[in-house]
Amino acid sequence: MDSFEYRNGRLHCEDVALERIADEFGTPVYVYSRDALERAYLSYATALEGHNALICYAVKANSNLAVLNVLARLGAGFDIVSLGELERVLRAGGDPSKVVFSGVGKQAHEIRRALDVGIHCFNIESEAELERVNQVAGEHGSVADISFRVNPDVDAGTHPYISTGLKENKFGIAIADAQRIYQRAAQMEHVNVVGMDCHIGSQLTEVAPFMDALDRLLALVDRLAEQGIALRHLDMGGGLGVCYTDEQPPSAQSYIEAVLEKMSGRELGLIFEPGRSIAANAGVMLTQVEFLKLNEGKSFAIVDGAMNDLIRPSLYSAYQEIIPCSVREAGETRSYDVVGPVCETGDFLGKDRDLNIEAGDLLAVCSAGAYGFVMASNYNTRLRAAEVMVDDNQVFEVRARETYQDLMRGEKLLPAE
Ligand code: LLP
Repeated sequence: MDSFEYRNGRLHCEDVALERIADEFGTPVYVYSRDALERAYLSYATALEGHNALICYAVKANSNLAVLNVLARLGAGFDIVSLGELERVLRAGGDPSKVVFSGVGKQAHEIRRALDVGIHCFNIESEAELERVNQVAGEHGSVADISFRVNPDVDAGTHPYISTGLKENKFGIAIADAQRIYQRAAQMEHVNVVGMDCHIGSQLTEVAPFMDALDRLLALVDRLAEQGIALRHLDMGGGLGVCYTDEQPPSAQSYIEAVLEKMSGRELGLIFEPGRSIAANAGVMLTQVEFLKLNEGKSFAIVDGAMNDLIRPSLYSAYQEIIPCSVREAGETRSYDVVGPVCETGDFLGKDRDLNIEAGDLLAVCSAGAYGFVMASNYNTRLRAAEVMVDDNQVFEVRARETYQDLMRGEKLLPAE
C-alpha cells in the first residue's frame, strides 16, 4: 500500500493525514488514492504497450463514478455485469466501444441498451444466452459481437485458489461443448463470433493456473481456426491477486509477460479484466474505536464500521490488515477482536489483532479499495459510508454519506384505515 504510509507516526494517504479526513467527513469512510489507482492501471498498460490489447477494469470491484472516471481518463475499457454498471461507465465518461459485458444472466433490456450504445463485446456464458442475444440483436436490427466464456476446467487439485474455472460451477460453457456451440453461433444471423474469454477465479497468487487455462484456450482457438472460425481476441478475465498480508502475487508485468510469451506469433488481440489488482490496495476504510471491552480472556475493540460496510472478513473469513492512524508511544498493546455494532456474532473486521489503542482512536482497515463499499448494505438500517478520493494534498468527497432520507426512499406506509 505505497500510497498509504506513516509520516511522523501519522498514517497518510498521499499527502493527506487520514485523521484530517475523519475529522472532515466522519467515519466510517472509504478513502481512495488516485495515485495508487493510476499506478495499478498503468502497470497493466505499460506491460501491454505496443500490443493489440484492451484493459477492461472490472467495475464490480469498485464502481464509484470518480474511480471509473480516473481510469477512463487513462483510456481504460470496462468489464460490466449489469445494466447498472453500464450506466455508471457511461456517466463516468467511459467509452462504450471498450466495454465487455460478462455475467451469466443478461436480460433482454440490458442487451438492448448495450447494443444501443455499441459495446465492444458480449461475453456469453450459455447456449440459452446465445439464443437470447441473437434474438434481441435481430429485433434491434443489429449484429452483436460475441465471445464465449469457456470454462477451461483447470485442475483445482494443483491450484486450490481457483474457484470459478471448474466444471462444477455455474460459469461459462464447458470446454468439451465449445466447438459445437461456436459452430452453432457461426450459423446465426445476428451474432458475430469474435472472441473467447475465461475467468478462472480471483485472488490468484501464481501465474501457473493462468498459463494452464491459456494453453487450453489456445488449443481450442486453433481447433476453431481449422474449422474456419477465426477469432479476433482472447480475454483472460481478471483474477490477479494482491497482497493483503504476506501473499506474494506476481506483478501485473510478470503475469502479462508470461501471457505475451505464449501468444507470440499470433494475430489475436488480448483483453484483461482486472478488478482487485487495480483497486484493492488503492483504498482503506477508516473506522473509529467506540469502546474497548476487556472481557476475561478476550478483548474487543468495538468500532463504528461493521460487516454492512465491509463484509469480506465476515463472508469469506478474509484477512485485511487493521492499523492505527496514529502511532501511540505509551500504552499497552493487546490482542483485540475488532468488531462492529451490528447484531451478529459474525460481525467482525478482524480477529486477534495486536493493537495499542484507546476509545476514540482511528483505525484503517487496509486493502479495502476492491469489494469494499460495493458490497456494503444497509443491514441494521445503517447508513452506507462516505467515499473520498485523495489526489496529492487534495481531498474530494466522491460519494456523500447516506442520509436517513436516502435510506427510506421509495418506502411507503399502507393507506390509513
Ligand atoms: N471478470 C469476471 C468475469 C469476473 O467474474 C471477475 C470477478 C473479474 C473479472 C474481476 O476479478 P478480479 O480481478 O477482481 O479478481 N467479492 C469477492 C471477489 C469476487 C470476484 C468475482 N468476479 C471478494 O471480495 O474477494
